[in-house]
This record gives sequence, C-alpha cells and structure tokens, in this order.
Amino acid sequence: MLTKPGHVFDRDREWSGLVRFAANTYPGAMLGVVSGRRRQGKSYLLEALTSASGGLYFPALEETETVSLRSFAAALVRQGVAVDRPFQDWTDAIRLLLSSAGDRPLTVVIDEFPFLVKSSPSLPSVIQRELGPGGAGRDSTARLLLCGSAMSVMGGLLAGQAPLRGRASLEMLIRPFGYRDAARFWGADDPKLAVLLHSVVGGTPAYRRELVAFDAPVGPDDFDSWVTRTVLNPQSPLFREARYLLAEETEIRDPALYHSVLGAIAAGHRTNGGIASFIGRKSADLTHPLNVLEDCSLITRSPDVFRRGRWTYEVTEPLINFYEAVMRPEWFRLEAGQSAEVWREKEHDFFRGVVGPHFESVCRSFARERGTELFGTPVGEVGSGVINDSSSRSRIQLDVVVFAPAAPGEGRKIVSLGEVKWGEVMGTRHVDRLRRARDLLASGYDVEDCVLACYSAAGFTGELRSAAEPGVTLVSLEDIYRLRAVGEDLVGEAVVEGRLGGEHAVPVGVGA
Ligand SMILES: Nc1ncnc2c1ncn2[C@@H]1O[C@H](COP(=O)(O)OP(=O)(O)OP(=O)(O)O)[C@@H](O)[C@H]1O
Ligand SMILES: [Mg+2]
Repeated sequence: MLTKPGHVFDRDREWSGLVRFAANTYPGAMLGVVSGRRRQGKSYLLEALTSASGGLYFPALEETETVSLRSFAAALVRQGVAVDRPFQDWTDAIRLLLSSAGDRPLTVVIDEFPFLVKSSPSLPSVIQRELGPGGAGRDSTARLLLCGSAMSVMGGLLAGQAPLRGRASLEMLIRPFGYRDAARFWGADDPKLAVLLHSVVGGTPAYRRELVAFDAPVGPDDFDSWVTRTVLNPQSPLFREARYLLAEETEIRDPALYHSVLGAIAAGHRTNGGIASFIGRKSADLTHPLNVLEDCSLITRSPDVFRRGRWTYEVTEPLINFYEAVMRPEWFRLEAGQSAEVWREKEHDFFRGVVGPHFESVCRSFARERGTELFGTPVGEVGSGVINDSSSRSRIQLDVVVFAPAAPGEGRKIVSLGEVKWGEVMGTRHVDRLRRARDLLASGYDVEDCVLACYSAAGFTGELRSAAEPGVTLVSLEDIYRLRAVGEDLVGEAVVEGRLGGEHAVPVGVGA
C-alpha cells in the first residue's frame, strides 16, 4: 500500500481509492475519471500518486492536436518508453501507451483532459475503442486516469450516450474540504474565526495557499485586516477569482445572465419565481441557466422538506456569495483601492446576508455528519422547511430538520427540529416556536422523540440554560467544531455516551 505523502492534507478516502485503483492487478487496462471544480487539489493529489507509484503524469495544455501529440510523445520518452517515430494521431499514441505499460500496474494520469478533447474531439472514442474488445488495452497493465475541471466536459464524459460510458472503473469527484477540515487547514482554532473564513473562502485548498500568498489571519482580531489585504485587495488573485470561476465554464455563454442569477440567490431570492422576478425574466427562461449552474456545482437545489415540489437554491461556493453580496456592488471602488472603506460599509451586509445563511448550512452539515451522536439515533435526510401556522397566520421557518432514515411502510419520523442564529442570543421563546412547530407537525409525522435544537453562535440566555427538560438541546459554536466522529484522530471531549454533553450542549428544559 502506497502511503500518502505528508504534504497532502486530508483526502484520506480519495487517496485510498486512488491507490486501490492504481494497484489493481486484474488483467487488462483500466480507466478512471477524476473531476471536480477548479483549484480543489485534483492535480496536487494525482501528481502525488504518480510520484509515489512511479507513474506517468501528463498535464495537457491548450494546444493543437499536433503539438499535444508531440508533448505526449516527449512525456512517454521521459518515462522510458521507446517512441521511434512521431505519432500520426491519438490512436497511434494511445496504442503505444497501452502496449508499453510493462507487467506491473502503471498509473497514467492525463490531466486537463478537456483541453485535449477540445482539439481532438474523437479522443474519448479512441480510448473507448482501445479499451474495448480487440483494443490494445486487452493485455495492458495501464491504469489510465483522466482528469479535468471543466465540469461541462468531465460530467459529460461518462453520461448518456458518451463513448466512455460504462468503461470507467473509478469515478471520483474531488470536493472542497468540509467546514471542519477547512478550519484545520487554515489553522483557525477559534470557531468564530473558522466560520467567518469559511463564509468567504469555503473549503477550496488553493484559496489558503497560492491565491493569498499563504496569508492566513493570525487570530479573530486579524480577520478584518485579512479581508482587506486579500479578497478585497485588487492585487490579490483571490480578488478576481469569483469572476474567473464563471468565465472558466465553457458552457456559460451569457455571463451577465448567470451573474444575475447568482446575485439574486446570494441576495436571498432562493426560489425559481423569486429569482425570475428579481432579475426580470420569466421563470421558464431560468431552467437552462439554473441547470448549468447546478451541473458546474456552483449552486444546489434542495426541496422544502415539508412542501414537496418547492425548491430553494443555494450558492455552494462561498466566494461567489461573498463576491455577489460584498464585492460586485462596489467593484469600481475596490479596484480603485478603497478596500478598507468598502469593508467598513459592507461588513453589516456580510454578517446579515452571508454569514447568517452560511452558518445555517454549516449547522445542517453538522447535523448530517454528527446527528447520530448528537441525537443518539440514526439520522437520514437533513434539510430545511417552512410550515404554516394558520392560528396566527404566520409561517415558521425551520433551519435544521432532521429525519430518521426512511423505513418502508412507516410514517416519516422527525428526529429533530432546529433553529439557527448567528448573532442572536437564543432564549425560551425560540424553544416555544420550535415546540409550536412540533405540535403542528404531529398530525402528519411521528414527532414522539423529536428533539428541539437551538444552534447559536451568540449563546443562550441564563433562563434557557437553567431550565431542565429532556428533549431540548443547545448547540454552541464550540460544539460544532469540537465534536469529532469516533474513529477520527481525536475524539472530542464533548461526546458523552454518544451524546453531546459539556457546558454548551446539555439537554435542558423550559418549564414543565
Ligand atoms: N490536499 C492538499 N493539501 C495541501 N494543499 C493542497 C491540497 N490540495 C490542494 N492543495 C493546494 O491547492 C493548490 C491547487 O491545487 P490543484 O492545482 O491540484 O487544483 P486542481 O483541482 O488541479 O485545479 P485546476 O482544476 O485549476 O487544475 C495546490 O497547488 C496546493 O497548494
Ligand atoms: Mg489541475
């Protein structure tokens, strides 16, 4: 088993999947596809894999077919393969590659594969043919990994009628680090700082390194200064990154429309109708852009858990949210170097419009990953939803709704209903609202063991803390970052007999 090099942070599951693929001794060539948005660390990981296994790493460039073939031949020669004449075409090149692999599994990575497909559209069919019956792959030990970030190309590679569909033995999506790994990657020990950072740069590894010249806040007090030195600084590559993210997706031909859609979602218009009226288009006109943005993993669509058929959209890349909420409206002043002034004026919008909703999604991730420990029972779907309270003619928004895993033939069981606050101390009235919601839901769901959960970054009132009734749980920011799963390198001290304990998250009551 190849050990993961120390410079590769996290990615343990990805590493073992890649190593298993690379070391597979089953006869015949094998194909894997690695994709993921830009700057998530695909190349970093695959380069580490080929270095560790003595494989071939070929990073394609945007070149003509002839030039690419020449570069590929040179890469093979460096690998020790005898190439005695220039390649005529990709059939020639892939055949030689497959037949020269030797008798031990050889990892071959073709990175930036979409560049090659652009100049040689038949390349996927060539690979398909050579990996198929009668192709040069039959007696080959090559473990071929195709990698790329243009989601429109990589996503299509294995879809529908695509030639490579059904050929791949490995399909891997490299995602941003989760919120807790991101905090570790940034060295952010303070949970508040960790949430603020994650609200700006999410879990994209390159945003911690090259794009900010390795500049991380030294502590919570340094956050404001860090924002103005990096993301709001026109000399920092991070400044233009959100714009590039869109521009890089080849399918996006009308950036103005796409930016408007993202801007609408970032501004809190999360439904199809809401987005349409915000940007002044018909709902039907949005179907295509919303699909494209979803395919590029820039937005996600989630159902209202209580009103099926109603969907809400969320921007998944925090940097885009930050750009749309804070940067785009002030772009010219920022370019003129007025970062500190702009940040002073926009900080309020950042907390209200960016951090608040972002913290809700962090709490949902927490419930998804740690809900079993937190609630002491297996968890299934986690989402958010709205219910109508006809008696007061109002609506109750539930930020974290946790269901038990669906069991056939049984009614749906709600494990927990939760409300999230970033800047507000939570008190008994929040629990009262949750209790009201639980009562309303009792007619359609099993709410017998439903835990009412208050997630607050600002803390809880003394009254709420001192009341003592099981069935209510308080979750602090510290809990969200402290609790680790059993089996991880460090088991958080907050785990007590499979439940959250400790100062911040005791089951408390609120009156009889
Ligand atoms: N697991 C990791 N540990 C430490 N640093 C990482 C890790 N993954 C990525 N990085 C950092 O992020 C940078 C960008 O990663 P990389 O170039 O591999 O991304 P990519 O997914 O190939 O992006 P692109 O699609 O733009 O080619 C790396 O140069 C490295 O500094
Ligand atoms: Mg790369």
